[in-house]
Amino acid sequence: MTRRRQIYEGKAKILYEGPEPGTLIQYFKDDATAFNAQKKGTISGKGVLNNRISEHVFTLLGNIGVPTHFIRRLNMREQLIRQVEIVPIEVVIRNVAAGSLAKRLGLEEGLQLPRTIIEYYYKDDALGDPLVSEEHIACFGWASQEEMHDIADMAIRVNDFMSGLFAGVNVRLVDFKLEFGRVYDNDYSRIILADEISPDGCRLWDMTTNEKLDKDRFRQDLGGEVEAYQEIARRLGLLPEGENTVLDMAEHRKNRGK
Ligand SMILES: Nc1ncnc2c1ncn2[C@@H]1O[C@H](COP(=O)(O)OP(=O)(O)OP(=O)(O)O)[C@@H](O)[C@H]1O
Ligand SMILES: [Mg+2]
Repeated sequence: MTRRRQIYEGKAKILYEGPEPGTLIQYFKDDATAFNAQKKGTISGKGVLNNRISEHVFTLLGNIGVPTHFIRRLNMREQLIRQVEIVPIEVVIRNVAAGSLAKRLGLEEGLQLPRTIIEYYYKDDALGDPLVSEEHIACFGWASQEEMHDIADMAIRVNDFMSGLFAGVNVRLVDFKLEFGRVYDNDYSRIILADEISPDGCRLWDMTTNEKLDKDRFRQDLGGEVEAYQEIARRLGLLPEGENTVLDMAEHRKNRGK
């Protein structure tokens, strides 16, 4: 068997060269990190669930006309994507105070924000992904004004769509992170949605009980991480009721030694 060329290994995913130029294969690992990788662990089965959840959300976003890198899911842990030039900005959209916003401004976690906030963080692990303003982004040329306009526009659309999607299954979309990238057609480039949308990068609370159904279970040592991700997949209709087929299959493969 020929070995595929690995392009990049991140904390949660591996990127491999795709079958055609301009494509990549995105492999979802079970590794979990928090607090800028100071806390490390694995959530067995997470990669399988995130692959499915991200496929689902990106497909729905594509259906309403949001351009994304997603092409198709290949197997349990892999999806085919368009290669982009990543804009080195993490775009965080917040509807409810939580996490670093609550801490930074001394807000009570769970406070409904009077309006949606978009924040930008410069993607640099060594610096701990610092919060930056559009001034910094323009000053250092990380993205043009036009690109930032498109990014903010898409972020709001994705937020409106996802807030409704999750509200329909009794889940509050508290906040989430997006990454965008450039694709080039001849001399022009445009911005498309990249990376993943999964409970790794979203805060998702049960609307009735406020139970956390996302990576905060790992960050805060609450336990039941994989069950929470599974619950999100189940509510989105990605797992048969009362069953756990995706994970059972993953487990089965692992036990067989691949
Ligand atoms: N379509 C794409 N084309 C190229 N790179 C992509 C694409 N989608 C996502 N990426 C990048 O691939 C990597 C995915 O790996 P992972 O999420 O594990 O990274 P990470 O450890 O979070 O690191 P980073 O700080 O770079 O995000 C990220 O660096 C992400 O920016
Ligand atoms: Mg990442």
